[in-house]
Amino acid sequence: MQQLQHKTAVITGANKGIGKATAIALAKEGVNLGFIARNGAELEALCQQLEKEYGIKAVFATADVSVREEAEAAAEAVIGQLGKVDILINNAGIAAFGTLLEMDPEEWERIIRVNLMGTYYITRKILPTILEQKEGSIINVSSTAGEKGFATGSAYCSSKFAVLGLTESLMQEVRKSNVRVTAITPSTVATDLAVNAGLKIGDEDRMMQAEDVSELILSVLQMPQRVFIKTAGIWTTNPQ
Ligand SMILES: NC(=O)c1ccc[n+]([C@@H]2O[C@H](COP(=O)([O-])OP(=O)(O)OC[C@H]3O[C@@H](n4cnc5c(N)ncnc54)[C@H](OP(=O)(O)O)[C@@H]3O)[C@@H](O)[C@H]2O)c1
Repeated sequence: MQQLQHKTAVITGANKGIGKATAIALAKEGVNLGFIARNGAELEALCQQLEKEYGIKAVFATADVSVREEAEAAAEAVIGQLGKVDILINNAGIAAFGTLLEMDPEEWERIIRVNLMGTYYITRKILPTILEQKEGSIINVSSTAGEKGFATGSAYCSSKFAVLGLTESLMQEVRKSNVRVTAITPSTVATDLAVNAGLKIGDEDRMMQAEDVSELILSVLQMPQRVFIKTAGIWTTNPQ
């Protein structure tokens, strides 16, 4: 098992849901953290909480990751404050569902811009510092919606299929440089995103939680560096 203590990770969308659960899981392992999302007040509160509880360094920069200049400036700011980056978790994302004809083209495009372009902009800015470390990991949060299309999912599924394409291509580019690139493909998780998008949550107790996904992310990061996992799927037991 790979020890993560004193490593440095950047997580996008860390102020709630899967990103926040992952931030806590990594802080417990002694990982120093950099966060990027839009809500600065929530990110600041999380940094203070994690520094106090786990004695790690936690910094943040605000950005809408779909806006290239903002994403790049935030990535540069957290790299500057952390000094190096070993791990990147591209988690920030949005979801909305509607038939191709019903959904407003601007909403359709926004889903692509946040989920795909945001992942690309942040990765492009942070990858060089990971390569400088001569080993590292990138985890992209895709979805079961990135593996199988469904009615009303054209925008979200397109964005998450694209994240799998980006992941596999980048994996082939950097695996010889000892950088692992993995996509996580969870089914529905009980978070604000799922509730706001109208996904069926059903029995809360049996529903997959953000902490379950963060455990998977942690396990992938703890694999020996000689091993990489291309795609890690995780499904809830709650039948929907
Ligand atoms: N929940 C599910 O059922 C499920 C299943 C499979 C995959 N996923 C994926 O898991 C990831 C996390 O989702 P979640 O369920 O944890 O959702 P969530 O609780 O709504 O959290 C989403 C996070 O992304 C950030 N974010 C959203 N738009 C952003 C933008 N334009 N720029 C920067 N940050 C942005 C949010 O922060 P701000 O609002 O402050 O920016 C928030 O921290 C997403 O990629 C999602 O597609 C979720």
